[in-house]
Amino acid sequence: MTGIDRRAVIRGLLSFPVGRKLLAEPSVMDPANVFDFRPLAKAKLDPIAWDYLEGGSEDEVSLRDNRDAFNRIIIRPRALVDVHKIDMSLDLFGTRLDYPILLDPAGGKNCFYMNGEIAVAQAAAKMKALHITNGGIQKVTETGKGPVWWQVTTGGEFRNTQTMRAFVKRLESQGCAGICFTIDIMYVSHRERNIHNRLERGWCETGIPPRDVQGKLPEARNPETAGIFPSRPFPTPTWETVKELRSMTKLPIVIKGILTREDTEKAVDSGASGVVVSNHGARQLDHVGGTIEALPEVVEGAGGRIPVLIDGGFRRGTDILKALALGATAVCVARPYLYGLAAFGQPGVERVIELLRTELALDMGLAGVPSLKHIDKSLVRVRGLR
Ligand SMILES: Cc1cc2nc3c(=O)[nH]c(=O)nc-3n(C[C@H](O)[C@H](O)[C@H](O)COP(=O)(O)O)c2cc1C
Repeated sequence: MTGIDRRAVIRGLLSFPVGRKLLAEPSVMDPANVFDFRPLAKAKLDPIAWDYLEGGSEDEVSLRDNRDAFNRIIIRPRALVDVHKIDMSLDLFGTRLDYPILLDPAGGKNCFYMNGEIAVAQAAAKMKALHITNGGIQKVTETGKGPVWWQVTTGGEFRNTQTMRAFVKRLESQGCAGICFTIDIMYVSHRERNIHNRLERGWCETGIPPRDVQGKLPEARNPETAGIFPSRPFPTPTWETVKELRSMTKLPIVIKGILTREDTEKAVDSGASGVVVSNHGARQLDHVGGTIEALPEVVEGAGGRIPVLIDGGFRRGTDILKALALGATAVCVARPYLYGLAAFGQPGVERVIELLRTELALDMGLAGVPSLKHIDKSLVRVRGLR
């Protein structure tokens, strides 16, 4: 039986209660942690979409570093502190959040689940999580009704002053709560899983549904595009662009993709409201280390003047706790909620957020830190160093 035939049979069986029982369809409550969602997501997706979701760039060294680096940080728990109440709330640019976990931007959500961008917006609103969207902002703000930031990369928005002004006006009129400017994607890297899969750049972003929904793979895949240096038609943004953007709007501007003290200082000088320590989920420049390794120098560079957020490999409450101890204000995640989305749609996203939030609360209780204010550098040490 071919893969597609098998999927058709499974779909048929799933439409009857007996069939569902026969197949023992997993429930959204089965996974005990973020990692448990991975195989469920993988089973639902076309292998090409899975590689697009999961993969990093080139040798995927940073992809491994993003996870491995957490293991070098040890928590120093405090005993006999009253932890009967755990308060994870914080204020971020005037928005009250119940917990310090945000949803990162991720292109291609519609390729992991039908109308995935909207499903994520709805889950985020229900869970009162801040969501950085890639999709039609108006649709997302109307549907989600939660705090939504819009992510912008190096597209046409920054081509000149007029395009930038029009862009800002559109966001302000459509209920956007902040701008996330992703600066680490001046070129799209070689994500070699995609090249091997002959995945044409843009396939996932165009919103084509996964094969098990659509029934077949799109034909528009062009192996010719792999390995060709993509020229840029107009100058790429600079710190001057950030200053200009700053002069046009009062919305918070968060620079995503910072990995050094120097750039953090430039972000502050350019009027940025905050930064996200990020290596784009290890999907852009490889060999930049795990993001948690860059966090201390970025926090130093910010010097308490702007909040420092971070993403990259966060899968556990303890990962989040370590970042908060090293000076992060909040943590963002992408793949975790994408696993939930691919496996179960909106309820999967909600459950992933719930699991992360519960783990963080539990870990705070176990570590003797009842609120975010109690968390500081003394809560961690680096393995081998006293
Ligand atoms: C499938 C996928 C698509 C992504 N698309 C974008 C994007 O459009 N813009 C962006 O700023 N970052 C994008 N990212 C990067 C994430 O926003 C985030 O920086 C990173 O994935 C966090 O690491 P994690 O996936 O380990 O949580 C994407 C990540 C994934 C996995």
